[in-house]
Amino acid sequence: MAETLRIEERDDRIVVTLHRPEARNAINAAMVRELHDVCSLLEQRPRLLLLTGDGGTFAAGADIAELRERGREQALQGINSRLFDRIARLPLPTVAAVDGYALGGGAELAYACDLRIASSGAVFGNPEPGLGILAAAGACWRLRELVGASVAKQVLLAGRRLDADDAYRLGLVAEVVPAGELLKRAHAMLDRMARSGPLALRLTKLVADAPGGHPVTDDLAQAILFESEDKRSRMDAFLAGERR
Ligand code: COA
Repeated sequence: MAETLRIEERDDRIVVTLHRPEARNAINAAMVRELHDVCSLLEQRPRLLLLTGDGGTFAAGADIAELRERGREQALQGINSRLFDRIARLPLPTVAAVDGYALGGGAELAYACDLRIASSGAVFGNPEPGLGILAAAGACWRLRELVGASVAKQVLLAGRRLDADDAYRLGLVAEVVPAGELLKRAHAMLDRMARSGPLALRLTKLVADAPGGHPVTDDLAQAILFESEDKRSRMDAFLAGERR
């Protein structure tokens, strides 16, 4: 029984809803563990994955209270980057249905999916440098692949947030729909894929995804930042309620 996820298993898909309402669905260690369990199910018996967030938020990032305590060792373990890579490598396509904020690790989780669909209230962003760290779980390279280097650097370095219209124009999301229709439209997208030959879909995904070498360098840089005073004081400030 998952604590941080709501999981619905169907014949051709698994629907996972991130559910930590007290922390805007922030990704903590329990959620990482539970998402690994979902990956394990999907690796054993390939099905489509629909990933969404509860309560009008996709996910407000990695859990900052946990991040604050992590050091070099944890950065080198690539806690989030390995999970998101595992999700990216799932045998069959994955769709993130994003309503509200997808920030930091939450955005990276959405970037790791094969496709994204957004509600008109969706907002993507990577505010990690404001907390004294870098987005080490995929944003530094997946976002560039998705929207191009110029926009990716606006998001990563200049704190640009992409609203639903931006995300659609840039091709980050396939479709923008009213929040009330998000899940219906996302399921329609999966229905379309479910109609394809499963092996064809699986091999197409495998061939379309070129291998990349990034998590190692991201984790090394994160290992330095995780030890910095600046990171601690910025996370302390966030946890004390200051918003910059
Ligand atoms: N980690 C841990 N807790 C988080 C969190 C995170 N990433 N994001 C939100 N929360 C918690 C808040 O601390 C708050 O807890 P409290 O009720 O005990 O004070 C609760 O979730 C609600 O957040 P709040 O900021 O009050 O909600 P909001 O609607 O005003 O703002 C956000 C929503 C997403 C804009 C804001 O929470 C935010 O900026 N979160 C951090 C985003 C971020 O920097 N992510 C990158 C992390 S790598």
